[in-house]
Amino acid sequence: MANKLYEKLSNCVEAVRSKTDFVPDVALVLGSGLGNYAENIKVTAEIEYKDIPGFPVSTVPGHAGKFIFGYVGDTKVVCMKGRVHFYEGYDISDVVLPVRLMGMLGAKILFLTNASGGLGEGFGAGDLMLITDHISCFAPNPLIGANIDELGPRFPDMSEVYKKDLQDIIKETAKENGIELKEGVYCQITGPSFESPAEIRMLGKLGVSAVGMSTVNEAIAANHMGLKICGVSCICNLASGLSENPLSHEEVQEAADKAAPLFTKLVTESIKKFSKGL
Ligand code: HPA
Repeated sequence: MANKLYEKLSNCVEAVRSKTDFVPDVALVLGSGLGNYAENIKVTAEIEYKDIPGFPVSTVPGHAGKFIFGYVGDTKVVCMKGRVHFYEGYDISDVVLPVRLMGMLGAKILFLTNASGGLGEGFGAGDLMLITDHISCFAPNPLIGANIDELGPRFPDMSEVYKKDLQDIIKETAKENGIELKEGVYCQITGPSFESPAEIRMLGKLGVSAVGMSTVNEAIAANHMGLKICGVSCICNLASGLSENPLSHEEVQEAADKAAPLFTKLVTESIKKFSKGL
């Protein structure tokens, strides 16, 4: 009997294919601050999540998302405007369904972006950080349960999730555009509460530079199915206990909006170069 999750995924693929035959090379997940990224895409099709049967749709008003298909330079992209978070109450398999779907539509590269709290040495609000590796053990693993053999192996290797060649392109792009780019390990916690200062001290001891509520479960699912992954995090605040101010969603959003122009430039120029490596 076919795996139930794979059946659900295949139905989603079919629903998308009934609306567009566009085959993307790069999948891009937009985090906070990149909400208006569609302006940089020569759009060929848009599909609202709610029009894909079985697709997890945010219940928060104003948060309904969509896939945007089109071109960034010569690179064919599918872009997720609005992602699904575990803290919203979805099953972890639904949280990673969109990323798996983009892989099944043909994407070979996954570019993950997010907003995070910074605890790396010398980090400040508004910094951009290249994700070099991650820590996943504070969030559920999306591969728990029967393995979907059609997608990948039971025990996937995780020794280079964020591909060195893509990291090099992003670093080179930052340099060419005069964008300061930090580097470090990103840790996903479940949220929705921010961390306590003691938790941030613990994460610091574990070698974490940035902490947030997304991305790692998507990276694990995409790595499982063989996608090449890269990621950039927008440091929107100093992590809990590292500044006088209590943390708020408004502060995070404000910092993300401020960093948006440079973040957009870095993502766009990097993706243009990805087409050469495909
Ligand atoms: N912690 C967790 N998630 C976040 C933070 C933070 O400090 N800032 C933005 N997202």
